[in-house]
Amino acid sequence: MLTHYFPTASALVYGCMGLGGGWNKNPLSDDDVKQAETVVHAAIENGITVFDHADIYTFSKAEKAFGKVLRQQPSLRDNMILQSKCAIRLDDELGPKRYDFSAQWITCSVDNILRRLAIEQLDILLLHRPDPLMELNEVAGAVEKLQKAGKITHLGVSNMHGHQIAFLQSALDTPIVTNQLEMSLAFRDWLEDGITTNSAANRNMGYAPGTLEYCMQNKVQLQAWGSLAQGKYSGGHTECEADVIAAELVASLAEKYGVSAEAIVLGWLMRHPANIQPVIGTTNVQRIAQCAEATTVTLSREDWYALLVAARGNEIP
Ligand SMILES: NC(=O)c1ccc[n+]([C@@H]2O[C@H](COP(=O)([O-])OP(=O)(O)OC[C@H]3O[C@@H](n4cnc5c(N)ncnc54)[C@H](OP(=O)(O)O)[C@@H]3O)[C@@H](O)[C@H]2O)c1
Repeated sequence: MLTHYFPTASALVYGCMGLGGGWNKNPLSDDDVKQAETVVHAAIENGITVFDHADIYTFSKAEKAFGKVLRQQPSLRDNMILQSKCAIRLDDELGPKRYDFSAQWITCSVDNILRRLAIEQLDILLLHRPDPLMELNEVAGAVEKLQKAGKITHLGVSNMHGHQIAFLQSALDTPIVTNQLEMSLAFRDWLEDGITTNSAANRNMGYAPGTLEYCMQNKVQLQAWGSLAQGKYSGGHTECEADVIAAELVASLAEKYGVSAEAIVLGWLMRHPANIQPVIGTTNVQRIAQCAEATTVTLSREDWYALLVAARGNEIP
């Protein structure tokens, strides 16, 4: 798991997609930098050491805001594990939104990430989404050069299934250390696939079988994006009846375990033996502290299943 490569890696990851003032063309403001500073300190005070970026977040403003915080307080970097992603290209004068695993794009993206974050070396570079036009040797060559140049320490991926990771890994001399997927009490394909094997409910499953097992067997740290389900079960907007029932169960378990609702939602993911690392995207300082309480909870098997059934809206097969 990530602690295998970084012994100080925290159980939670702070996701920086909410920094930088939003997905707009406004220039980065002093308030945006102040917000990043407040949030970074809140994360650190709550034991979080891993910070997740992507070059595209808020059109690169998230990395810029974070970099300004590091420029003001360079010592913060000493206890951080910084990861960022590249290879999604937003639509531009050259073409539509696309993925780009070319050596040239990966290499130039890393240089830009390092410059924006004001750092010399990125701890983990993640390939954001699989590129169907990937040339294995090109990716391997680019990664090797970046590692030799000291610009990245490790490689990770995101939104890849187990077969894709194994395929990419076959060309690399360096281990793929993490895979970031959408996983939450609301988005359960990663779990439902295993539960509904050999049943009609599995027919429309978009999740590749074996991904979880591949990651667990090969020390690929699973990181869960969207882990709070945008607050659906912890006081945020809830749409359907099953979600209301699940949110009520989350509230009663929060009382039972003496923790926040967020801790129950994240604790449900963390109870899985895959040692899933939730990536939390809240920019609310109080909520960051509430999320951190997840590290103190171990749900009983019965409560874990009760949450699963409530969120599904149906009993398991
Ligand atoms: N690899 C990928 O493809 C990928 C894709 C998406 C995201 N990510 C990463 O994962 C991180 C987390 O993803 P995410 O932000 O989509 O998911 P999230 O952590 O599930 O949701 C965070 C959002 O939900 C809101 N929220 C949480 N609890 C709430 C509540 N009780 N009431 C109202 N709003 C609430 C937050 O608002 P407040 O800020 O007001 O709390 C924030 O906007 C991102 O920051 C990014 O680093 C990766």
